[in-house]
Amino acid sequence: MQKSILGKAGDYTVRYAEASDVPSVIGVNAATLPEHYSDYFYYEILNEFPDTFIVAELGGQVVSYIMCRIEYGLSVTKRFGLARKGHIISIATMDGHRGKGVGTTLIQRAMEEMRKGGSKEVFLEVRITNDEAVRLYRKLNFQVTSTMQGYYKDGESAYLMAQQL
Ligand SMILES: CC(C)(COP(=O)(O)OP(=O)(O)OC[C@H]1O[C@@H](n2cnc3c(N)ncnc32)[C@H](O)[C@@H]1OP(=O)(O)O)[C@@H](O)C(=O)NCCC(=O)NCCS
Repeated sequence: MQKSILGKAGDYTVRYAEASDVPSVIGVNAATLPEHYSDYFYYEILNEFPDTFIVAELGGQVVSYIMCRIEYGLSVTKRFGLARKGHIISIATMDGHRGKGVGTTLIQRAMEEMRKGGSKEVFLEVRITNDEAVRLYRKLNFQVTSTMQGYYKDGESAYLMAQQL
């Protein structure tokens, strides 16, 4: 069956993730990030939010992913009120494939899907020392809205970064 292709980022094919991609996504996550999740969590997120679970592949191999959840609650960009908001739970590109625009494309595609789905804002958490990721998010118009002290298990703090859609 033809996998649902969204477009290209250079040589990379960008498409919606499928259940059969989850083991590869788990592999990318394990190789790139200290935050891991249960296998069940990936399948659950894919099942519930398939439009914002996107992968990039090269030569049939998944090298990058973004997975998100749509939430409803307190606005992260306004002082008051409730909002439907897209939460970027995790994004990563394998070393050796970075700096080629894949991460940028995945975030842009996911934000477009969130907007289409009625989300009014998008947010994420990032380690305050993760300069590369913070720079990427700033480039894409995210702003730091708060710092969450000791957010990660190892005690490092996180920036909450967000923007309106
Ligand atoms: C953050 C991350 C997802 C970005 O993915 P990417 O596919 O490299 O993203 P892009 O190529 O679109 O852009 C990344 C930026 O990295 C920088 N960069 C340039 N060359 C690079 C290289 N060879 N290697 C790494 N980064 C490079 C650039 O600043 C680039 O932005 P710009 O070229 O548009 O100015 C990736 O670095 C990664 O997987 N890091 C480890 C996991 C992680 O920290 N995830 C985020 C958790 S919140």
